[in-house]
Amino acid sequence: MAHDEIVDHHSALARNALSGERIAQLHAGETVLDLGSGDGIDVLLSARRVGPHGTVFGLDARPAMVELAQRNAEQAGVANAQFLHGTIEAIPLPGHTVDVVIANCVINLSDDKAAVPAEAFRVLRPGGRFGVSDVVTAQGLDEQARPRAEQRIGHAAGSLTVQEYRDLLVAAGFVAVTITLTADHGDGVHSAIVQAVKPAIGPGLEIRPMREGDAAEVLAIYQAGLDTGQASFETTAPIWEGFTASRLPHLRYVATDSDSGEVLGWVAASAVSSRPVYAGVVEHSIYVHPGCQAHGIGRALLGAFIAAAEDAGVWTIQSGVFPENAASLALHQGLGFRVVGTRERIGCHRGLWRDVLMIERRSTLTGV
Ligand SMILES: C[S@@+](CC[C@H](N)C(=O)[O-])C[C@H]1O[C@@H](n2cnc3c(N)ncnc32)[C@H](O)[C@@H]1O
Repeated sequence: MAHDEIVDHHSALARNALSGERIAQLHAGETVLDLGSGDGIDVLLSARRVGPHGTVFGLDARPAMVELAQRNAEQAGVANAQFLHGTIEAIPLPGHTVDVVIANCVINLSDDKAAVPAEAFRVLRPGGRFGVSDVVTAQGLDEQARPRAEQRIGHAAGSLTVQEYRDLLVAAGFVAVTITLTADHGDGVHSAIVQAVKPAIGPGLEIRPMREGDAAEVLAIYQAGLDTGQASFETTAPIWEGFTASRLPHLRYVATDSDSGEVLGWVAASAVSSRPVYAGVVEHSIYVHPGCQAHGIGRALLGAFIAAAEDAGVWTIQSGVFPENAASLALHQGLGFRVVGTRERIGCHRGLWRDVLMIERRSTLTGV
């Protein structure tokens, strides 16, 4: 295929952008999805990177673009590329089938921007990567500057601010979110590289944000943990309304069986204080289904939670652990928590006065 011909179809902004296949550092054998693939240039470049054992899907809402991309793939003799007609807000692929989602100058065009990361998260396998090039606007871009920039650049219509982009990715369940500004197009409009990861846990398992529909399973796992007598001074799990009211909505995750959807564990956090000085300090709880312990679920959940908390500006995560709960202590110490002290005989639990170890993890990335 004549590369120059394809590049001719690109807008000035798309030409300036770093292609998705370079951002995401593709490996041989991977399955890749290019959102809004246009004439297919990134799909063809990616197809070469993933090699004959990999597959690259291009998705575009315009049938003419799908046909053009198919013709380009045929002319280039690329056999491991497939072009799909559909929208990035309702991706026509099953869940957990893609290793990497890429996109170039597309997501800013969507009129339902929350749906795009949610769909990308759904189709990615655990551990999958999101690496896109997009257009973002500065926080609080004034209402006169925005239309000027949109008219000049032609791609910034309704683009997200860096914070809005980050919030949508975190709400979808992504962790390790980085947004790096690249070119400055003036009037507060920038190109940006946006990268994020779907938490990994192990074959057949995934981590996603907790939803209202998880209530019964989350509370059953909570109760099973309390029944061991080693998790908390509490003896009865609260009703959902009480649980949800006291936990931060953006810092709750569940681990699930990816086939059955069954919830196998959860982690959630509460604010410790309303004082601004403690805005980045939370207290967390983590519970794994008693039948699923020692499968790495706790470690994966806690790791994903720490990454999400740091993304959200949390600098200290704290909790209390009974000294007898050696598994929980080891889990936390393995992920950077330290024991800051022992509260001796602090509470009477089932007729026994018990100590509690206060543990905390101070971030080296946030609040430094
Ligand atoms: C600016 S072009 C970029 C094309 C390609 N990614 C590139 O870098 O050359 C945007 C492409 O996204 C497609 N597109 C826009 N909104 C879409 C949506 N909601 N769903 C699927 N495709 C969409 C358009 O048809 C167009 O081909």
